[in-house]
Amino acid sequence: MPLIRIFAALVICSLAFSQSLMAKEIVIKFSHVTTEKTPKGKAAKYLQELVAQRLKGKVRIDVYPNSQLYNDKEVLKALLLNDVQMAAPSLSKFGKFTKKWGLFDLPFLFKDDNAVACFTNGPKGQALLNAANNKGLQGLGYWLNGMKQLSANKPLIVPDDAKGEKFRIMSSDVLEAQFKAVNANPQKMSFSEVYNALSTGVIDGQENTWSNIRTKKFFEVQSDFTESNHGVLEYILVTSTEFWNSLPKDIQTELAAIIKEATLKETQWALEAAQADKEFIIASGRTKIHTLTNDQAALWATAMKPVWKQFEGNVGKDNIDAVIQCGQ
Ligand code: LMR
Repeated sequence: MPLIRIFAALVICSLAFSQSLMAKEIVIKFSHVTTEKTPKGKAAKYLQELVAQRLKGKVRIDVYPNSQLYNDKEVLKALLLNDVQMAAPSLSKFGKFTKKWGLFDLPFLFKDDNAVACFTNGPKGQALLNAANNKGLQGLGYWLNGMKQLSANKPLIVPDDAKGEKFRIMSSDVLEAQFKAVNANPQKMSFSEVYNALSTGVIDGQENTWSNIRTKKFFEVQSDFTESNHGVLEYILVTSTEFWNSLPKDIQTELAAIIKEATLKETQWALEAAQADKEFIIASGRTKIHTLTNDQAALWATAMKPVWKQFEGNVGKDNIDAVIQCGQ
């Protein structure tokens, strides 16, 4: 065969190969730990639907809820290995990647959901999305769950009531310090183990949002809840920097726009769930819910707030101040 023909055949082959590569659908595995009925679960499915509509044939998202694939500790390793490409763990679970996100665990710092939105939408919050870039993680957006409540098998009305009680916490040194500040005994544990640990008495109490308390049935195995609103449970939608940077520019831009849309919906669902799930738990009659007086709430805040100073160097005083400016 003349050389020119061989050359032409090679060019055609390589063009076809690169076209088939270009046309290959990008699959994003999204693993998370809550049920599909939670704000995070619904938003993950919504993200999947929007991508199916707007990036059809180019990108597909497969969602794995309820710790089906990984718990939150494992999923961060899996992201870096490109075994999954998206997750939305609580910001409390990234201590090995950045100390900055410990900000979200400081007790009584975020006054309410509005203060969270004010900070995360502001310049400091947006800059913090990049805090774990040097460890290979890229934050894509903040997803809300809501304010946390305390529970145990006894009323927790003043800080002394927590003394000696074993509380499950997420894997956060800030949360550990928060419970130590009221002389309680914090135990780091993954989310999927909490229900069993509560029902068998391995732990005495926990802190979480109304949404997680309802969907994981914690209210069935705790006699008393305190509407403490002492901290926030906030997620970060996260991917690996390597995966994110590997996406073609047009796809990255469209995906970022879709994520913005899903994030707005997620916030709305979180606000609705906080109210509806609390009402569901009250109506169940399975547990008691205590509301604190202003004086009682102030006692918890006074006992826990020294934790701010302890972690100021890690999370940044400028970030603490920016949250305070959002309302105290
Ligand atoms: C927890 O571990 O309590 C939460 O982070 C679970 C979740 O994702 O809401």
